Amino acid sequence: MHFELKNVTRRFGPKTAVDNVCAVIPQGQMVGVIGRSGAGKSTLLRMINRLADPSSGSIRFGDLEVSSLKGQALRNWQRDCAMIFQQFNLVPRLDVLTNVLLGRLNHRSTTLSVLNIFSREERIMAIAALERLGIEQTALQPAGTLSGGQQQRVAIARALMQEPKMVLADEPIASLDPLNAKIVMDALRDINAREGITVVTNLHTLDTARSYCQRIIGMAGGRVVFDGPPEQLTSEAVRLIYGADNSGNEIDESMTSTAINKPVKRPAAMKSAEALAV
Ligand SMILES: Nc1ncnc2c1ncn2[C@@H]1O[C@H](COP(=O)(O)OP(=O)(O)OP(=O)(O)O)[C@@H](O)[C@H]1O
Ligand SMILES: [Mg+2]
Repeated sequence: MHFELKNVTRRFGPKTAVDNVCAVIPQGQMVGVIGRSGAGKSTLLRMINRLADPSSGSIRFGDLEVSSLKGQALRNWQRDCAMIFQQFNLVPRLDVLTNVLLGRLNHRSTTLSVLNIFSREERIMAIAALERLGIEQTALQPAGTLSGGQQQRVAIARALMQEPKMVLADEPIASLDPLNAKIVMDALRDINAREGITVVTNLHTLDTARSYCQRIIGMAGGRVVFDGPPEQLTSEAVRLIYGADNSGNEIDESMTSTAINKPVKRPAAMKSAEALAV
């Protein structure tokens, strides 16, 4: 079942954050969305998950018109496309196992959810998800006591509990050190390859997009300015996406590298590279 964005636009007052975006994404693809700060990457993902509504255009999943879903149908859609955030969005005081089980909420009746009753099968499923991500030993710890990399793995385990058709990740590694960034990206790739779940992830860094994604969508000023496989992402395409810096110098691709393989602390370095590029 493929996923289609047709002329999707989102305005905030006079500002057009996402401008007439069109894309067809076949089930099972791993897609990286790249672009400068403010390019519209988060707004695009949030519209897919319906955390934000498009001002115009159509978002379809098979026969389902996502942009007009309401009530239970909307909740079902939000279950089917799990979202992962830069800041993990766990409940820090709750233990890891409960955080993962929260991924089941949209699979069950409100009464059971309110009573916080999870079945034995769901608990086994949650522990299996934690095992798969190599963090089962943290199951009874408060989530807030884990390292960032571990917390993001908990968030992925919670997403798996939703049994999603699609995983949306908004800069899942921007707060992580290189080793944890690699673990998290490997986990997303594994989910994509083994379960055939479509993954759409915003990334600040070109080299991560190049090495993990089959397809890269480059955004600038709300528009799609590149859409193709990493091999086609030439320096000319990179210039279209990132433009030139204030002094007229072209952006140096190495400055947008994630340092997954390099001992550089990334988020701070990346933000300053971006500040230069804006
Ligand atoms: N709720 C909002 N209200 C007003 N303007 C918004 C809102 N959300 C986003 N914008 C604007 O829309 C544009 C796109 O923002 P968006 O967050 O989608 O960019 P981004 O590509 O995710 O950037 P970053 O890399 O910094 O996360 C920006 O100019 C932003 O200021
Ligand atoms: Mg963003």
